[in-house]
Formats: sequence, structure tokens, C-alpha cells
Amino acid sequence: MRTVPIVGVVNQKGGVGKTTTAINLAAGFARRGLKVLLIDCDPQGNASTGLGVTKHNPNATLLKLLLDAADEKPLDQTLKDCMLESADGVFVIPASSDLAGLDGYLSQSVGKEFLLKEAVAAIEQEFEWIIFDSPPSLGILTINILTACEGLIVPVQSEFYAMEGLSQLLKTVQSVQKRMNPRLKIVKIVLTMHDPRSRSSQQVSKELQDYFGDSMANAFIPRNIRLSEAPSFGHSAVTLFPQSKGAEAYERLIEELLA
Ligand SMILES: Nc1ncnc2c1ncn2[C@@H]1O[C@H](COP(=O)(O)OP(=O)(O)OP(=O)(O)O)[C@@H](O)[C@H]1O
Ligand SMILES: [Mg+2]
Repeated sequence: MRTVPIVGVVNQKGGVGKTTTAINLAAGFARRGLKVLLIDCDPQGNASTGLGVTKHNPNATLLKLLLDAADEKPLDQTLKDCMLESADGVFVIPASSDLAGLDGYLSQSVGKEFLLKEAVAAIEQEFEWIIFDSPPSLGILTINILTACEGLIVPVQSEFYAMEGLSQLLKTVQSVQKRMNPRLKIVKIVLTMHDPRSRSSQQVSKELQDYFGDSMANAFIPRNIRLSEAPSFGHSAVTLFPQSKGAEAYERLIEELLA
């Protein structure tokens, strides 16, 4: 059986560039002709809207898929209904705000940490890359991601408070490795909104390098206005502004991931 790279873009700290990273990686892989699925696991739904997936059926979202899995329903039709192709050629399973209630709906469910893994198992062979965008928390959605994926990409915003919270993420990753998903590993730590001339950025970069060594991506993502503008047009920057510094940086990261 072919093994499909399944990666989660995670960091429970908000606004560090998870969604921007997930969208641009997915679109960059699609530009290379790879069949990519992006699963939006954040009730904010930014990955869905950022790729222009806005007019989906509100009853055909990740929440429905996970609830069907919890109810032991066959997933094939729901998967078909939920999956949409974005203008950038990325297949998306969108999220909606009601996904925030997942934990409540699942209170009686046995094995609720494994629902996403189950859903992905039903379609993974159709894809060459599967990427999860995660919410800024370590709740049930993120645990489902950690259980379902084999690799993590951790965007870290290059600023003074960057390290805050990373140790908690690492602890959670270790618990999941031990109890639920031994193959889980951190693939790349990626500096986002990085300014190599700023002293605090340099310091964060050095601390991460010392701690994570080879897991640090060589490519860093600079602060770049095109990265924040592109989602308002329903596209990734790598598709819409391929010459921008931000898109070029994501292209370098993609090359590292494919190497
Ligand atoms: N390299 C960058 N340069 C400039 N702006 C950026 C960059 N990366 C992200 N942004 C902007 O910063 C904001 C937060 O980014 P993003 O939504 O990707 O973070 P996030 O970690 O997904 O946030 P959340 O935790 O809320 O899901 C967005 O407005 C985004 O457009
Ligand atoms: Mg996000």
C-alpha cells in the first residue's frame, strides 16, 4: 500500500500563520500537479474561506463527517458531499462555526480522538498529500489531528513570546505519541513573519535552532503583505502572487518538504 504524507499544521498559539501555511503548502503542491486534500479543522473556517470555498452546503462539512464517523455510519457518501475543489486546485473539506460544539456532541462517544483518522482512512488512497489546518487550542479537534497524521508542521511566529506555549504543545505531542500515535513526529518548525534583521527575530531563530536542530526549516517565511491579501481574493499567495517574497518563501519550504 502506498503511504500518503498526512501532515497537520499545528500550534495552539493564535495568529502565528497556521492557516496561511496550510493554504500555501496545499496550493503549492497542487501547482506541482499533486492531488492534495486540505481538511479545515478550525471552526473559524479560515482555510476554507481563504481558498474561496464559501458557498458549500452547511450540512456537508467536517462536523457532519466526524459525527457520521461517531455514529458508525458509512462515510463514502458524506465524504463525496463534503469534498469541494477550490479554484487553486486543492480539494477542501470545509469547516463551519458549529464545529466548535464537537466536544459536546461527542461526550458519550468511545474513541472520539480517532474519528478524523477513521474518516481519512476512507479516502487517503485518493490523494498524494493530506494537510490539516488546526484551531488555536489543544482541544479535541487538535488531538484528532495529532492522532490522524504522521507529521507536524509547527509555524512559530518570530517574536519575543514565540516560545511561550511550545513546551505545552511538545508535551501533548509526547502523550499522543505514547498513547495513540507512535508514528507521530515533528517534521518542520517554520519561522513565520520573520525579519532576519530584527534582534528578537534572530534570538527566537537561534533558540529554536538550538532546541530543534534539523527539524528547523531552512526556509523562513518573511512578513509579506501579499500573504495576508491573497485570502481576501479566495486564493493562496503562491497562486495569485507567485513573484511575491512570501510565495517564494513557501515555495522554498515546499522544496524542503518534498526533498
Ligand atoms: N508571513 C506573513 N506576513 C504577513 N502577514 C501574515 C503572514 N502570515 C500570516 N499573516 C497574517 O496574519 C494573520 C494570522 O495568520 P493566520 O490566520 O495564518 O494564523 P493562524 O495561526 O492560522 O491563526 P488562528 O490561530 O486564528 O487560526 C492573518 O491575517 C494572516 O493573513
Ligand atoms: Mg488559522
